Amino acid sequence: MTRGRGLLGVLSDDLDAARAHDPAARSRLEVALAYPGVHALWAYRAAHRLWRFPAMRLPARLLSQIARAATGIEIHPGARLGQRMFIDHGMGVVIGETAVVGDDVMLYHGVTLGGRSLSRGKRHPTLGDRVTVGAGAKVLGPVWIGDDAQIGANAVVVKDVPAGAVAVGIPARVRVPKAPVAERSRNEDPSELIEYSI
Ligand SMILES: CC(C)(COP(=O)(O)OP(=O)(O)OC[C@H]1O[C@@H](n2cnc3c(N)ncnc32)[C@H](O)[C@@H]1OP(=O)(O)O)[C@@H](O)C(=O)NCCC(=O)NCCS
Repeated sequence: MTRGRGLLGVLSDDLDAARAHDPAARSRLEVALAYPGVHALWAYRAAHRLWRFPAMRLPARLLSQIARAATGIEIHPGARLGQRMFIDHGMGVVIGETAVVGDDVMLYHGVTLGGRSLSRGKRHPTLGDRVTVGAGAKVLGPVWIGDDAQIGANAVVVKDVPAGAVAVGIPARVRVPKAPVAERSRNEDPSELIEYSI
C-alpha cells in the first residue's frame, strides 16, 4: 500500500480511479456528482480519520451509516482501504471492520468483504493491490487475496487466493497463472493456466 498523499490528493485520486475504470465516466465533475461509490469512499475516508480517535468512534459510525443510507454501501470506518479505489454501482457492498484493501482495487455492486466468526479479532479479508472483485461476490473470513487476483461475479471465496489468480464459483475454483504476474502481460495465452479447487 502506498502512503504519503494528503486527504485532498487521496479524494482526487478516487475521482481519477473512477474515470480510469468506468468507460461511461465522461468527466471528473460527473463522477464527483453522480457516483455513489465515490461518495461512499469519501465518507469512509473522513470516518476512518475520526475512527483513529477513541472518543470519535461513535461519530465515525454515524457518518458511515449516513453514507450507507445515501449510497447503499456500508464501509466500517475501522476498515483500512488503499488509494485509488473504485466501487462501481455500489449498492449492496459491505466491507467489515477488520478488512484491509490494497491500492487500485475495484469492487462491483453486491460485494461482501465479510466475516465468518463472531470473534473480535481479525475476521475479515485482506486484499492485495489491483484486485478486482466481481458483482455479488462474497469474500469471507480472514483470507488473503493476492495482488492482481480477480474474483468472479457471484463467487464465494473462503480460502486464500494466490497473486494473479482468477477465482470463480461456489466454493471458488482458482486458476493460477503458471508464469509470474509480471511476465503474464508478455504471455496472455489462457491455456497457460492451471486450475484447482479451494
Ligand atoms: C472471473 C472473471 C474475471 C474471469 O474473466 P476471464 O479471465 O476473462 O475469464 P473467462 O471469461 O475467459 O472465463 C474463464 C472460465 O471461467 C468461467 N467464468 C467466468 N466468470 C465466471 C463467473 N463469474 N462464475 C463462474 N464461472 C465463470 C468461464 O465460463 C470460463 O469457464 P471455462 O474455462 O470452463 O470455459 C470474469 O468472468 C468476471 O466474473 N468478472 C466480473 C465482472 C463483473 O462483475 N461485472 C459487473 C459489471 S456491472
